[in-house]
Parts: sequence; structure tokens; C-alpha cells
Amino acid sequence: MSKKKCLVTGGAGFIGGHLVERLLKAGHDVVVVDDESSTANSNFTWRDDCENHKVDICDFEKLNPLFKGVDLVFHLAARSRIQICVQDPADAVKNNSLGTCNVLQAARLNNCKKVMFAGTSSCYGLKNPIPLKEDMPNDCLNPYSVSKSNCEELCKMYTKLFGLETVLFRFFNVYGERQPLAGDYAPVVGLFFRQKESGEAMTVVGDGLQTRDYTHVKDIVEAMFLAGESDDKKIVGELFNLGTGTNHSVLDLVKLTGGEHVHIPARPGESRETLADNTKAKTMLGWNPSRKIEDWIEKNRPN
Ligand SMILES: NC(=O)c1ccc[n+]([C@@H]2O[C@H](COP(=O)([O-])OP(=O)(O)OC[C@H]3O[C@@H](n4cnc5c(N)ncnc54)[C@H](O)[C@@H]3O)[C@@H](O)[C@H]2O)c1
Repeated sequence: MSKKKCLVTGGAGFIGGHLVERLLKAGHDVVVVDDESSTANSNFTWRDDCENHKVDICDFEKLNPLFKGVDLVFHLAARSRIQICVQDPADAVKNNSLGTCNVLQAARLNNCKKVMFAGTSSCYGLKNPIPLKEDMPNDCLNPYSVSKSNCEELCKMYTKLFGLETVLFRFFNVYGERQPLAGDYAPVVGLFFRQKESGEAMTVVGDGLQTRDYTHVKDIVEAMFLAGESDDKKIVGELFNLGTGTNHSVLDLVKLTGGEHVHIPARPGESRETLADNTKAKTMLGWNPSRKIEDWIEKNRPN
């Protein structure tokens, strides 16, 4: 494994922070680009052993020079929560679609070798039956998935038109250490932990029977890492589901966390069930997601 220069956008955020750790552990040099704009994060992780830039990916003039000499780009910066994008669709499209176009253009102009893109299972929407497979049609129900599916198209276009190597991922609900906890729209595992800790009832959206494939952040990061290390040209331009292949309802999470709960109104624009068919990532990347949410909650839930 040769030493590479890796640039991580959104590298001070939840998943990006774990990816930065993984790349450093492998001995790579890491450049982090993040503007600290995520409102669900109370902390951003900046490390002394990286080159750090507080830069907005929408600002191409500032972004482009940071890609000089970079081999691998991991693009995770985004408006990353559905309901925040529902509140401000133009902001979602700007940061996700335009931001991604800027990242791809900078990678192209600076001859970067490969770009790994962080997409979302929410592109499958409501129409597709589980288990969800990469060749199913999109059913985008909100500005978040619309902008993220647009990013996927931009990645594929940059590969076909300009020969820039891209690899696309759809993450299924990510949880783990340092997960976002702030505000009403923090992801559900972190939100329930915060509510339990402060003696509040856990807020269950709708009937709580909606299911999600919850995937540990270290498993997500490992797949992106493997794609970066791979010399296999067959993964270029391909989309990979990153989910465990099992799912749980929100009420299951309530039971696992333990404590009181209340129901709040269902939110428009969200899927009813997700469950990944992860065969493609397992066979083509050698990925093996090993962590189970029930074990993690058991070990980490607040008393
Ligand atoms: N967490 C999940 O369950 C999940 C599921 C599917 C996809 N994803 C995707 O994974 C990526 C990382 O998600 P996360 O959960 O770590 O969220 P996060 O909000 O913690 O991370 C995103 C980071 O990007 C930064 N950022 C946002 N806009 C930026 C901009 N214009 N310029 C520079 N930095 C900017 C934020 O400050 C934040 O630190 C996102 O692209 C998200 O859409 C996450």
C-alpha cells in the first residue's frame, strides 16, 4: 500500500472524521475541507496531524488550489439531513449539487486519481420493494435525495465525459461514536440517546413502525477506504449500497435504548422501509460489514 495524499470534504463532520482517522492509520497524508455549517453537529473534529481548511465547497476559487497534488478525493461535505433540506431546497441544491460539481471540477483540473462520493439510500424512496438493489430506479421524495441523485449523475458524467474516475456509494442510516446529537433533526439513534440522557421522552415520528437498515460508521468508512485503495477498474463509475442487510423499526430502537417515548406527527418525504442488498459491495470491494446496532446500543446507551 503506497502512501497517498487524500482530501476529505466534510472531514470535520461525523462520518468524515472517522474516515480521516482510517486514512491516517493507513499512513496517508490527509487534507480536510469543511466549513462547519452542519447544524446537527455540536462538535467538529479537526486534528493537528492533517492539513486543515475551513472552506465552503461552493467557493471554487478557494477550493481549487487545495486539490494540488491530491491523489484520492473522498467527498462527504453536504447538507446531510432530509428535513433541513425540506426547509430550504435551494440551499440543499446549492451545497449538494453545485458543491459536488465544484469538487469534481477541482479533482479533474488537478488530475486527481479517483473520487469517492457519499450518496444516500433515500434515493430509493417509497416505490422500490426491499431489499434495495443498485439497479432499481430512483424515487426521490425530497430536496435532499433529489440533490444527491443529481450528484450521482454528475459523478457518472465526469467519468464518461472527462475520464475522471468516480465511485458512488449509498449509505444506509449511519450511527456510531460522535454521531450528531443537536436539534430536532439529529439522526434518530443520537437523538434518542440525548433525550434519554436529559430525562425526556424519546420522540417517535409517526407510528414508529418504519424500518431502517442501520449501519455502523466504521463499516461505512471501511468500504470507502477499500475503494480508494483498489486498483480494480471495474469499480469505476459504479454505485454500491452500504447497508448491513438487516433492518429495525424505530420502536425497536426505543426498546433497545430503554425509556419513555411519545409519538409526533409523521414527516412528509421519508421512506417507509429500507434494507440494503449489499451483495455488490461484498463481491466487488471485498466489504464485510460486521457490526450490529443491537450490540452497539447495548454497549453505549445512556443509563
Ligand atoms: N449519516 C447518515 O446516516 C448518512 C446517510 C446517507 C448519506 N450520508 C451522507 O454522508 C455524508 C456525511 O454525512 P454525516 O452524517 O457525516 O453528516 P455531517 O453533517 O456530520 O457531515 C457533513 C460535513 O460537511 C460539512 N459541510 C456541509 N456543507 C459544506 C460546504 N458547503 N462546504 C464545506 N463543508 C460543508 C459540514 O460542516 C459537516 O461537517 C453526507 O454527504 C451525507 O449526505 C449520511
